[in-house]
Amino acid sequence: MSFPVGIDFGNMHSVIAVARNNGVDVLINDVSNRSTPSIVGFGEKQRYIGEDGKTKQISNVLNTVDNLQTLLALRFNTPDFDREKKYMNETLIKFPNDFVGVEVNYAGRLQQFSSTQLVATYLNHLKIMALNDIKSEIKDVCISIPVWYNEERRVALMDACKIAGLAEVTLVDCLTAAAVFYGLTKPDLPELKQKAKVVGFVDSGHTTTSFAIASFHQGKVKILSSDFVKGLGGRDFDRAITEYVADLFIEKYKIDIRQNKKAYFRVMTQAEKLKKVLSVNKSGQLNIECLMNDIDVSTELTREKFEELITPIVVKKLEQCIALTFKRARVESLDSIELLGGSTRIPLVKNLIEERTGIKLSSTLNQDEAAVKGAALIAAKYSSTIALKPIKFKNVLAQNISLYWDKPVPGRHNSVELFSKVTHYPVIKSIFIEVSSDFILAAHNGKRHNVKESISEINHNLLGSWKISGIDPKKHMAKKSEKIHVELIVSCDVSKFVHVEDVYVTVKDSSKSDGKENGLPNYRRIEHLNVETLPISPNHANLTKWSQLETVMVKQDQLVKDTEETKNELESSIYSLRSKVEGVYSDLLDSKEKQYILKLVDNTENWLYDDGEDATIEEYNSKYQKIKQIMNEINTRQ
Ligand SMILES: Nc1ncnc2c1ncn2[C@@H]1O[C@H](COP(=O)(O)OP(=O)(O)OP(=O)(O)O)[C@@H](O)[C@H]1O
Ligand SMILES: [Mg+2]
Repeated sequence: MSFPVGIDFGNMHSVIAVARNNGVDVLINDVSNRSTPSIVGFGEKQRYIGEDGKTKQISNVLNTVDNLQTLLALRFNTPDFDREKKYMNETLIKFPNDFVGVEVNYAGRLQQFSSTQLVATYLNHLKIMALNDIKSEIKDVCISIPVWYNEERRVALMDACKIAGLAEVTLVDCLTAAAVFYGLTKPDLPELKQKAKVVGFVDSGHTTTSFAIASFHQGKVKILSSDFVKGLGGRDFDRAITEYVADLFIEKYKIDIRQNKKAYFRVMTQAEKLKKVLSVNKSGQLNIECLMNDIDVSTELTREKFEELITPIVVKKLEQCIALTFKRARVESLDSIELLGGSTRIPLVKNLIEERTGIKLSSTLNQDEAAVKGAALIAAKYSSTIALKPIKFKNVLAQNISLYWDKPVPGRHNSVELFSKVTHYPVIKSIFIEVSSDFILAAHNGKRHNVKESISEINHNLLGSWKISGIDPKKHMAKKSEKIHVELIVSCDVSKFVHVEDVYVTVKDSSKSDGKENGLPNYRRIEHLNVETLPISPNHANLTKWSQLETVMVKQDQLVKDTEETKNELESSIYSLRSKVEGVYSDLLDSKEKQYILKLVDNTENWLYDDGEDATIEEYNSKYQKIKQIMNEINTRQ
């Protein structure tokens, strides 16, 4: 049986949960943590992913890629890049379309990876973790993503899922996921005919702070509005501390950590720890041995000073975010505010939210796990394998979506507004347009405008593109005109992807005099047209190649792991046999046999620490089997 899986894809950590046994279980990783660092590192023979990547990060900083969530589909020469580049220690390279990729030293040579590949590697690691736990195939997955992930990032994430072998994937933003969890688990929600309960959700994580206002009835969740601030999260606070101590160290120790990536990174790591100490203490200590030039550094930081450092980063942006979310939601007040994300543990952040909203904060949700649990429940909702308490949820688009088509009727416009920005999705709509023959249809974010040039020129914020065929102008053209009336059935799914579900040629129904019914043109469907979805991902052509490469790299990682395990088994079998020869086997062996065995173990040991230091799994295994065979044979004498 397959179980629905939720993944909260965080920039610092990700969390996996599985919906089963009438509940949701958060999975524990190989070192018993409930969250896994979002990191991929590269080494001489293998990759270091998640916890391994974190452990090796300081010694392998140039070949370790973190911040995967913000790196995905990041482009050079954008405001996002300007903000991100200071957190990137690896060598950055340009992929087609200006996408940022990395160059790392892996398996003895420089190799280049796109951000989609890196995220795919990480998701594959999480998938393997989940597979080991649920011990059956994974079908339904819901990933919670940042509120700010635009179409390009979401398409790239879906590409990464394909490479990682995750098929049925739904994407929802982390606040919606948390709100769904709230809606499914709170017992005291009003009935449908009663006034809705209105709750705010603030998530302040490692890179982003976001705020949503949602209304609740039993079995129904509606996101009324949301807003976010990129560059407002724990990472910015760690950096503020690091910059402060960098100046201090120049003065006190005459070392400039800004000139040494590794030293700077080590201070950032300690700053993060110190920041957490300051959430519960009035002051804390930062100590690092041999930071640069064999100098040990140490300094104290008070909470007051920390707050002084982060106030310029937090106050204005958070105020604006709160004000905008309230304005868009058109509500004056909230019943409560739920806190999510690690950085809402910081007293200054908490106090600010309370002060600026005027609402008492509530921590009834587990701030690190509400989003992933909601994601697992959303995966369960769309799965056929598990029955769930029914819940309907809708999010708000926040941006208009418009449709454009080529082959318009001469002299007529070729665009129409599909959904206004206040539309709640998932949603499906029927829309009528006029064309002159088979056509290409495209959906774009933003307000509709008339396009003079070819629609392929509007490549900004493309949400989907389709080839519609099967029109026979002679047969389908309306009499005495050059128009063909076409009905499009278009939807925006739960992941905010636009789909053309069906297209029909229609004719005016002459039995209705005003030509309209229920506000819609009164047309009769006469023929079903063909819809071909055109790929919009810039990585489309690479996906098969990248999937194959990922499979090869996973096999290589596994081979390195298995080789290491076999080597360890051989090593312990050497010690075990040697001690048994003089111990429990002593009476079972004659002196000639003892001599032979001791010589064999000595030779194997010498080989292991010399030529055999870096041997193949087959070599370790054959020596191990030989020792095991001897032991088995002696055991039969007992
Ligand atoms: N007790 C604490 N005091 C202060 N900061 C904390 C505390 N615990 C965690 N953090 C910070 O919270 C951040 C991680 O939060 P979280 O796990 O919610 O982030 P994320 O989901 O990976 O990132 P994002 O949501 O931005 O993608 C880190 O910066 C971490 O240092
Ligand atoms: Mg998060």
